[in-house]
Amino acid sequence: MKSHSLAAVALAALPRVWAITPEGMLAANRYSDALPNPSGEFALFSVSNYSFETKEHAAWWNKLDLATGDITEWGSPDISEVVFVGPTDTSIVYVNGSNAEGDGGISLYSADASSVESAKLIASLPAPYSGIKAAQTASGDIHFLMYTKAYPNGTAYNEALATVPASTARIYDSTYVRHWDTWLTPEKNAVFGGVLKGGNGTYVLSGELTNYVTGICNVTCAESPYDQSDQTDYDISPDGSSLVFLTKDTSLPLANYTADVIYYVPFDGTVDDVVPINARGSTAYPEAQGACTSPKFSPSGEHIAYFQMNGIAYESDRDIVYIASPNADDFNVTALALNWDRSPDSMAWAPDSETIFVSAPDLGRERIFPLPLTAGDSYVPTNITDEGVPAGFYALPDGSLLVSDSKIWTSRDIYAVTPSGEVTKTYFQANLVDPALAGLSAADVSEFYFATNSTEQELQSWIIYPEGFDETKAYPLAFISHGGPQGAHFNSWSTRWNFKVWADQGYVVIAPNPTASSGWGQNLTDSIAGRWGSYPYWDLVHAWQYVNSTLPYVDTANGIEAGASYGGYMTNWIQGHEMGRWFKALVTHDGSTSTLDQYASEELWFMNHDFRGPFNHTGLAPGSPYYDWNPLLFVDEWATPHFVVHNEKDFRLPISEGILLFNLLQTHGVPSRLLSFPDENHWVLNAENSMVWHTEIFNWINHYSGISDAAAPY
Ligand SMILES: *[C@@H]1O[C@H](CO)[C@@H](O)[C@H](O)[C@H]1NC(C)=O
Ligand SMILES: *[C@@H]1O[C@H](CO)[C@@H](O)[C@H](O)[C@H]1NC(C)=O
Ligand SMILES: *[C@@H]1O[C@H](CO)[C@@H](O)[C@H](O)[C@H]1NC(C)=O
Ligand SMILES: *[C@@H]1O[C@H](CO)[C@@H](O)[C@H](O)[C@H]1NC(C)=O
Ligand SMILES: *[C@@H]1O[C@H](CO)[C@@H](O)[C@H](O)[C@H]1NC(C)=O
Ligand SMILES: *[C@@H]1O[C@H](CO)[C@@H](O)[C@H](O)[C@H]1NC(C)=O
Ligand SMILES: *[C@@H]1O[C@H](CO)[C@@H](O)[C@H](O)[C@H]1NC(C)=O
Ligand SMILES: *[C@@H]1O[C@H](CO)[C@@H](O)[C@H](O)[C@H]1NC(C)=O
Ligand SMILES: *[C@@H]1O[C@H](CO)[C@@H](O)[C@H](O)[C@H]1NC(C)=O
Ligand SMILES: *[C@@H]1O[C@H](CO)[C@@H](O)[C@H](O)[C@H]1NC(C)=O
Ligand SMILES: *[C@@H]1O[C@H](CO)[C@@H](O)[C@H](O)[C@H]1NC(C)=O
Ligand SMILES: *[C@@H]1O[C@H](CO)[C@@H](O)[C@H](O)[C@H]1NC(C)=O
Repeated sequence: MKSHSLAAVALAALPRVWAITPEGMLAANRYSDALPNPSGEFALFSVSNYSFETKEHAAWWNKLDLATGDITEWGSPDISEVVFVGPTDTSIVYVNGSNAEGDGGISLYSADASSVESAKLIASLPAPYSGIKAAQTASGDIHFLMYTKAYPNGTAYNEALATVPASTARIYDSTYVRHWDTWLTPEKNAVFGGVLKGGNGTYVLSGELTNYVTGICNVTCAESPYDQSDQTDYDISPDGSSLVFLTKDTSLPLANYTADVIYYVPFDGTVDDVVPINARGSTAYPEAQGACTSPKFSPSGEHIAYFQMNGIAYESDRDIVYIASPNADDFNVTALALNWDRSPDSMAWAPDSETIFVSAPDLGRERIFPLPLTAGDSYVPTNITDEGVPAGFYALPDGSLLVSDSKIWTSRDIYAVTPSGEVTKTYFQANLVDPALAGLSAADVSEFYFATNSTEQELQSWIIYPEGFDETKAYPLAFISHGGPQGAHFNSWSTRWNFKVWADQGYVVIAPNPTASSGWGQNLTDSIAGRWGSYPYWDLVHAWQYVNSTLPYVDTANGIEAGASYGGYMTNWIQGHEMGRWFKALVTHDGSTSTLDQYASEELWFMNHDFRGPFNHTGLAPGSPYYDWNPLLFVDEWATPHFVVHNEKDFRLPISEGILLFNLLQTHGVPSRLLSFPDENHWVLNAENSMVWHTEIFNWINHYSGISDAAAPY
């Protein structure tokens, strides 16, 4: 391994004042969504950033006055979460991420948001609970829900207090031994409920917390929120009398299936009182078998909205909106806009409980659509937002929505939009206030549609221009392949793959959405199954040829290609095919090198779906998608300088994939470099690591594209 020194690495020297650098992007403020108070007078949002000089994170809260637009600092960085609940529209309960005992637990405080300094301690909880949801009951008490891991006996688990076993052995008798970046243990997430007695700002925690989840268990144990998910997996009714939570279907092996069940339970009930809302086959929609998300009570408390997919072993089927309404002893479940060919993934109820607003991938954006409860099967909603991808949206008392989103040119916009799509106030635009984002605007981004030969429909691609762009000049191409493969390049801000940061090295970034991309209908998404190396590759060839023949300001002769995850697979596939010779350098981040090794991943249903069946001996012979789409078949063609990133905590695509790629590149004499982080998973999240990631990759591609005249980076 070569020693690494940031100072010794020369990034492309750019003559531009405003170019956004990796350091500027990584150090810039990161914003939460803005949460309005019940009367819609103000909203709270948190901000954090990182200093490369002091190596310290800063964090604080802002209070946005929704009448004047004024933003003032609010609260304390100790506050990790806020929920509006209590006797007035400014009453809050907040979570303090630590407690006086310092035992790894948290503490709860009540306060008035306008005098948060005089908050009162309610309780200290001896485990790292988070995800607070709360409601005031008729008596003035507060019922709240939070989650943390629990032992199989239901007791909350606190890693800081747990006894460490003498041996580190791990033993498993069935699949699904690890997930994302964690080896699975008997401790699972569980939703706990508590009662705060009192009122008018002073509360005491009454009795023990109730675990509603642990104990619904046979083949595998119930878990809510699901591993890697969060408080969107559960909700409390507006009067505090009941709750809902979702869990994987406990009667099925977790590595094979994505099926979920949503359970309903009275707040004063226990695991013995849970009732499934949508057990498989129990609703009017027998084909609704798959993954669920976001169960959410209506403000009236009369309905629960949720999303569910049909496919029982597929994570990228179309999400359908269902409304469950309690009957005498079961639930009446109705689909809204059943045939709408979009897959919504987040929601907010309108105050009158007659409409829900959903956001869905739509033509490279994530747009918000209102759905009335009367929407029949053939109803097609009309979007009320346009650019960007929302991080959160909430209904205000006047019926409009407070939306927090991001775009390729801004890390956070906050605005209000009416149910008919009129933007009435723009409160915040990060690109206008953050120095690192100065100069970024919608003018930096464009798009085109191109014809291809896998489908009749034209496909879309983003174009991101470098700072100081002059269309009479030509800039090397940075061609970026997205992951998933069921996913898309969206008009959104990213701190991991920030298109503008890549462009400002001196490239025109082309980010195409080939077959498998979400937002153009389910058929395009599904068409990749069994076709990993054909349709998407052909589409990318067509996108590249469109650029080569119609965009004179793109220097395709000196282009580079890069991708992560499935995009890394695609990079490895490109390396072995004709297109590999059209690029000067390639970058694979945590990709798949051998499809035959995909069964070393954690979610087996993914391969079972995308490669048309579980792996068996036929996977070793032509005709099987495992065999036909294996990048290793074309290893003898590999020739283009190739930068490989693979992280040790990536359990989705284990590190051996990156080492295999690197060893073969080296064996075949292809200029290559391996970068690996022992403490990162499928993503690089640590700012210092991300700085090295950017510096090393840019050093590599800038050399081969000719942007930098520095010597070869190896
Ligand atoms: C990070 O936050 C600190 C504290 O508010 C602030 O002084 C600093 O300017 C911020 N840094 C950036 C890059 O915005
Ligand atoms: C958070 O908890 C710590 C430990 O009990 C305490 O010192 C601190 O004052 C609390 N901060 C707030 C804002 O509640
Ligand atoms: C549950 O199990 C944990 C770990 O073995 C133990 O510390 C705890 O006391 C148990 N709780 C109950 C109620 O038995
Ligand atoms: C809270 O204060 C209001 C007004 O002073 C009073 O009407 C109400 O009964 C109080 N509620 C509780 C639970 O103490
Ligand atoms: C697990 O529970 C489900 C539903 O409660 C039931 O249908 C299934 O038969 C159970 N499986 C086993 C192996 O007990
Ligand atoms: C789940 O997958 C395992 C292999 O990964 C297989 O042995 C088992 O039969 C599958 N179970 C079901 C119910 O499909
Ligand atoms: C279920 O809800 C739908 C839609 O609101 C309604 O038309 C239907 O009558 C309800 N069915 C029952 C049995 O309540
Ligand atoms: C809805 O989406 C279309 C593109 O399909 C866009 O042109 C239009 O501006 C959007 N409507 C609103 C109200 O933002
Ligand atoms: C579905 O997709 C396939 C493959 O892209 C395409 O051949 C077919 O025409 C599409 N069907 C429809 C109805 O769009
Ligand atoms: C589609 O285009 C690609 C790229 O030019 C080519 O390799 C492939 O053979 C074409 N497929 C068909 C069915 O014509
Ligand atoms: C790209 O365009 C140039 C100029 O029109 C042409 O000479 C070249 O053959 C094209 N490359 C490919 C791979 O199609
Ligand atoms: C092997 O897998 C293929 C593809 O799923 C399937 O068609 C075939 O029946 C399987 N063969 C055996 C022996 O399991």
